[in-house]
Amino acid sequence: MNNSYKELIKLAIDNLKNSYAPYSKFNVSAAVLADSGKIYTGVNAENAAYPATMCAERSAIFHAVSCGERSFTAIAIVGGHDYQIKDYCAPCGVCRQVMREFSDPKEMRVILAKSTDDYREFTLEELLPESFGPEDLSKE
Ligand code: THU
Repeated sequence: MNNSYKELIKLAIDNLKNSYAPYSKFNVSAAVLADSGKIYTGVNAENAAYPATMCAERSAIFHAVSCGERSFTAIAIVGGHDYQIKDYCAPCGVCRQVMREFSDPKEMRVILAKSTDDYREFTLEELLPESFGPEDLSKE
């Protein structure tokens, strides 16, 4: 197993306790690996005004972007009801699009984990085919 994925998954699992999901009770945590080698975590943060909720994946990516990062190669995601990880937790469409902004979809690995030994690995391109990204805006 790729050691950096193991570390990524471990950090996502360890930080799941910080998920704030009093309404759905569905807790999610993510850890994203930046080109710098640093790892940034994020959790879902719900809101009494439901649409103001933020997903774990975007929390992690925006955390990293706020620290100056602009490119990522992998993200590990864990989640489940009442902080229990019983199944793989796939990223929503909006989070996939945000990953697209800051990565090469052929290279970016999305790791859906149940534990550090039990996970599924996808490229972002598999999860978001025929995507629209920053370079499409600059085409004449
Ligand atoms: N959630 C995430 O954090 N990431 C996803 O990609 C899917 C959904 C959160 C949002 C909300 O707090 C809860 O899971 C239920 O939708």
